[in-house]
Amino acid sequence: MKTRIIRINADRPEKRNVERAAAAIRNGGIVVFPTETVYGIGANALDAKACRRIFSVKGRQRDNPLIVHVSSMKMTEEIGVIPSRYREILKRIWPAPLTVIVKSKDKVPKVVTAGLDTVAIRMPDNRVALEMIRRAGVPVAAPSANPSKMPSSTAFRHALKYFDGRVDIIINSEQSKFGLESTVLDLRNFTILRPGVFTTHDIEVAFGRKARVNAVTRGADGAAAATSPGMKYRHYAPRTPLFLYTGSRRKLARVMGSSKSRYAFIGTGDLCRSLPISKKNGMILGEKSDMKGIAARLFDALIRLDSLNVDFAVAESFEDEGIGLAIMNRLRKASNHSYFSDAKGLLILLKRYGIDINEDNQV
Ligand code: TXA
Ligand code: MG
Repeated sequence: MKTRIIRINADRPEKRNVERAAAAIRNGGIVVFPTETVYGIGANALDAKACRRIFSVKGRQRDNPLIVHVSSMKMTEEIGVIPSRYREILKRIWPAPLTVIVKSKDKVPKVVTAGLDTVAIRMPDNRVALEMIRRAGVPVAAPSANPSKMPSSTAFRHALKYFDGRVDIIINSEQSKFGLESTVLDLRNFTILRPGVFTTHDIEVAFGRKARVNAVTRGADGAAAATSPGMKYRHYAPRTPLFLYTGSRRKLARVMGSSKSRYAFIGTGDLCRSLPISKKNGMILGEKSDMKGIAARLFDALIRLDSLNVDFAVAESFEDEGIGLAIMNRLRKASNHSYFSDAKGLLILLKRYGIDINEDNQV
């Protein structure tokens, strides 16, 4: 199919162009659009047929529900039951990178909620997205704009590479401000299902209570998969094997020093500069003091990784705190829970992934 590319100014969205995207949504089309977190691939959330197309274009499992994007509280309350004690709070903090899970009013078809009696709702903090939803006049169901299991698009060029010829419209707008998907908070038990840039601290400040954070939030849910190669749980994953370094920062250069394979590094500048690798293979996300910048550049690095032609990549670990919790959640999944903290651990991973190592086995 022919995909129309529509350029829309992020600060002053051109009415005519936004209307073209909104009309496509109303007519059952699929539109890739920008949000402040990542790009989304959206359709009219009330149109089951259009939403089914999203699943097939993404290759997404049918049991994985979609987030419904809204442009007003009125639209929110049409599809979900917002507990009255949270209504004013949501009004105050939305639009924001925070998705809430609430009881569904069954207006949204089952394909969107994967048959659950709950619905995920969020109001994106992006003018183009908000204006498109408002003009469409319907809520917009949208997962992240990436083929299932691949890193999410944080820029138009990523979405174009993934979906040109497969959707009706791709909006060419600004790079995603945050670069990681929204925080998903289940309002029924006040538990974070997915950490994002709206941090546990932000939630506590806004709601006046602490959200529950468990192993799943940290991304450790697939920990068992790492030990059983048959059940590989991959998500946000590049094709290039990615290993998460969990040892001390001080030791990384020594641990990698003996490696003769071609590898790339993803992490902070100071750690990267301690490694004997080319500039091209050292993907600097930012300095340690700039966790927001690191989050914003992570998916672009994961997407670029596959064009570097290296045997594997090493990612730096961060503290499970603030935005670090969200970054580590994505890195644990992208690395398929492959962790190492010393040269011996690295060797074990290289063997497990069948990477031709030619190492001198100096462990
Ligand atoms: O930032 C974002 O949230 C982006 C942009 C486009 O808004 N969207 C996004 O959608 O990341 P997606 O589909 O990639 O992730 C949605 C997450 C999934 O983990 C899904 O399982 C969960 O939300 N989810 C959706 N509905 C749910 C429900 N009713 N109960 C529990 N989890 C739900
Ligand atoms: Mg996704």
